[in-house]
Amino acid sequence: MGDFKEHESDLLIVGAGGAGMRAAISALGMGRSVNIVSKSLIGKAHTVMAEGGIAASIGDVDRSDNWTVHFGDTVVEGVYIGNWRMAEILAKQAPERVYELERFGAVFDRTPEGKIMQRAFGGHTYRRLCHVGDKTGLEIIRTLEDKVLHTDAKMFDEVYITRLFLREGRFCGALGLEMRTGEFLLFKAKALIIATGGCGRVYKVTSNSWESTGDGLALAYNAGAELMDMEMIQFHPTGMVWPPGVKGLLVTESIRGEGGILLNSKHERFMLRYSPEKKELDARDVVARATYYEIKAGRGGPHGGVYLDISHKGRDFILRKLPGMYSQFKEFAGVDITKEAMEVAPTVHYQMGGIRVDPYTCATSVSGIFSAGEVASGLHGANRLGGNSLADILVFGKLAGEVASRWMEGKDTLEPEDSEIEREMDRVRGFIRKGGNPYDLIDELTSVMQDRLGIVRNGDDMRKAIELIKDIKRRSEEVGVSGGLKYNHGLLGCLELQNMIVACETISVSANIREESRGAHTRSDFPKRRREWKVNIVCRKDGEDISTRLIKVEEIPEEFARYVKPEVYEDE
Ligand code: FUM
Repeated sequence: MGDFKEHESDLLIVGAGGAGMRAAISALGMGRSVNIVSKSLIGKAHTVMAEGGIAASIGDVDRSDNWTVHFGDTVVEGVYIGNWRMAEILAKQAPERVYELERFGAVFDRTPEGKIMQRAFGGHTYRRLCHVGDKTGLEIIRTLEDKVLHTDAKMFDEVYITRLFLREGRFCGALGLEMRTGEFLLFKAKALIIATGGCGRVYKVTSNSWESTGDGLALAYNAGAELMDMEMIQFHPTGMVWPPGVKGLLVTESIRGEGGILLNSKHERFMLRYSPEKKELDARDVVARATYYEIKAGRGGPHGGVYLDISHKGRDFILRKLPGMYSQFKEFAGVDITKEAMEVAPTVHYQMGGIRVDPYTCATSVSGIFSAGEVASGLHGANRLGGNSLADILVFGKLAGEVASRWMEGKDTLEPEDSEIEREMDRVRGFIRKGGNPYDLIDELTSVMQDRLGIVRNGDDMRKAIELIKDIKRRSEEVGVSGGLKYNHGLLGCLELQNMIVACETISVSANIREESRGAHTRSDFPKRRREWKVNIVCRKDGEDISTRLIKVEEIPEEFARYVKPEVYEDE
């Protein structure tokens, strides 16, 4: 023992994206001491990939907007399996979080009258996305980071948390590996907030950066927490397709929000066929599926994408509204988007599912563990509206920080068991003793997900995927790397692989269970939406197996149901 350094605080936050940072601000404001641990560098969070804006019904552009419309849009586009209470909390509180960001120093684009500029996005009834050009997420993370850096919160970056510890059924600590030094760090705290973001990297083509390997999901799952809606993976309709080094990189929905249109290789505006009313601004699942079908039907471009064109809006407009997209295409693909169309295709962007939390407290099913942001489930149901992720991280990040801070009142910090710490350090060191390379298995795993759990799925493929993932899991027990604990990227790969397997197992098992098509989950063998599947699928660790159960979605009470377009099932 003693092979680690100890750090103690009231609250431990794992993840330094928008949700983690906003939670820290709440807890610090309530007098709690806070340690924040991040796998990558502080400020380099996936939050930056929500480029087009934050959804809040402030009505600065469209006066008729209000929280009830935002609430209705969120429930409907989540295809009725999202948690209506979370949708209510989000829709009511998002405006105040936007104003608060301004007080913290964020600078949103303005209307000519000096109000906050809002743009259209798919599935939102009104122009609702408050934005900063096409770099909104970056401005938000910059603002929150600036705020937190001026507090007493301690930041630990490039530290990878490998295990959570419980005592008397309650969270008491977490073990981390500091990558820079190769040292183990033990974080003791009364409560934990998991805010690690998603698992997009379990797919080959994704907008997600290297960090998104499902670490928070696996930490919670291994500690006994439940995961929910794991089958619901969002494919953003527009990612780059070329050159290969940037395949999957996000092409913001703002382009369509600002008037961009989608064309196939025959120069047809195909969304007119799939969604004559909303066209390119239908919800993401609809546009992503349409794009997929066009490409499948052979009406794609030379690099396997369709075309997204905004050149008709003129150079000045594009440079003012979409400067980031202009440089992205110019620098990476040599395409001038003020003159030419972009070639784009769907890319994995977001997990709607994740750790199951209480809508009012963000509490998981494990005492002392809370969760917020992409890693938590419930709000988005079967499909997330663009811009709702930024609102989510601020609204529920704040809530998690407040509730966790209240929850710990009068509680002591418990000591993790020495034997468990020792066992975990041995597990991590065990990867070094073996030699080899985890990346071949990661490559296999991501191929299975891309090929068999894509936009359109079927039972045969999914059952095969479950088998293949089991086999990869078995072989992952033998994987290892040479070298030491210090800055060993291969070792990080070994640890991440274990977490990615948890994400893939729960995604594939849940997807195979859901025998219908709903939102982001489309099955060619069950093409219709079915009322009996108005459920959430919940996974829990049961030894080496996954135990699953279905929870009926709670009906929305009449006073709120009137804000929601009624559900229609084709068969009824
Ligand atoms: O397209 C985008 O700018 C992404 C936004 C989001 O995912 O919320």
